[in-house]
Amino acid sequence: MSRKRTAILISGRGSNMGALISASMAPSYPAEIALVLSNRPDAKGLERAEEFGIATAVVDHKEFSGDREAFERQVDAVLKDHRIELVALAGFMRILTPYLVNAWTNRMINIHPALLPSFKGLATHERAIEEGVKLHGATVHYVSAEMDDGPIIIQGAVPVLDNDTPDTLASRVLQVEHQIYPKALELVASGKTRVSGTRVTGGAGQHDTASLVWP
Ligand code: GRF
Repeated sequence: MSRKRTAILISGRGSNMGALISASMAPSYPAEIALVLSNRPDAKGLERAEEFGIATAVVDHKEFSGDREAFERQVDAVLKDHRIELVALAGFMRILTPYLVNAWTNRMINIHPALLPSFKGLATHERAIEEGVKLHGATVHYVSAEMDDGPIIIQGAVPVLDNDTPDTLASRVLQVEHQIYPKALELVASGKTRVSGTRVTGGAGQHDTASLVWP
């Protein structure tokens, strides 16, 4: 079995990155983490990746004077240099232009801390509490041109409790993120998923619940 050479793109602490790296340690896991790339030189996750002996790269967006596409061309060049086949965004805090999205159609996935299509964008946990929803969670999806959009691969749900603060809710959601992201990458890297329009089928099968984690 040839493992898919995967890059993880981060901007911060990289806890999802850590979950993906840990999963990829199993010899039967269909993805190998070949690169961790950050747009921020000070991202904590870079140190963690180095501790795991994984190649790291920094493409600092501040060096591109606001030219998003020039930044993405450089990111894309680094991905190509490392012969990357799949990209997993894990807390990568840059809005992508069609340039990078189109270059990686159906080969780039993202994790978002909400049950999409609810609560796209930032401050998802604050907004979930404000709206009074009882079920919240996280979504792994293919990246499409619109932010926090694109075909959904896996969702994981958690309850919202009466005494939740954004922080307590965030840490409950983060635990589910660490479960679903490795599963999603496994499905994608093994070629089990099929994307048709806005839907992803095949990966989890029709009669099991592998595409759903819930309380
Ligand atoms: C996670 O909540 C993820 O869903 C969001 O950004 C956060 C990144 O956290 N996209 P970490 O760096 O993986 O710990």
